[in-house]
Amino acid sequence: MERTLMIIKPDAMEKGHIGDILSILEKQPGLDLIGLRKVKLSPDDARHFYAIHKERPFFGELVQYMTRGPVVVIAIEGENAVARMRGIIGATNPKEAAEGTIRKLYAESIGENAVHGSDSPENGLVETGFFFFEREFLRLRK
Ligand code: CMP
Repeated sequence: MERTLMIIKPDAMEKGHIGDILSILEKQPGLDLIGLRKVKLSPDDARHFYAIHKERPFFGELVQYMTRGPVVVIAIEGENAVARMRGIIGATNPKEAAEGTIRKLYAESIGENAVHGSDSPENGLVETGFFFFEREFLRLRK
């Protein structure tokens, strides 16, 4: 069992894609949306969450973007959840994303790319823990 975090980012929120994206997730057999919340990140939240990118030239832009409006954070659990979600999300750059992926459908650019997905099982645990307490997770059938 793995956990992964998806964030529906401000650009996708502004375009009204919460429902479209949740509907894609709900259709995935074996992936359980165990936590779901709308939040507004503070600049400190965004700097901590993306600390791994702090030396990148786009870091300031990334913090601005991620804090300009509310986002939806979703904790997802399932077998092979990290790789499966990365497949559903598509490449970081929407121009390189496969047909039918969330970024191909809804993202504009490499910076404003509609959603975030954890890149490893280890980060899946860290990132879901960034937004949720263990006691908040609710499973569909357990
Ligand atoms: P995400 O998968 O959330 O992880 C890091 C984020 O940084 C990425 O999605 C983009 O929003 C942003 N990002 C990555 N590469 C670039 C880039 N070359 N220019 C601007 N933003 C980027």
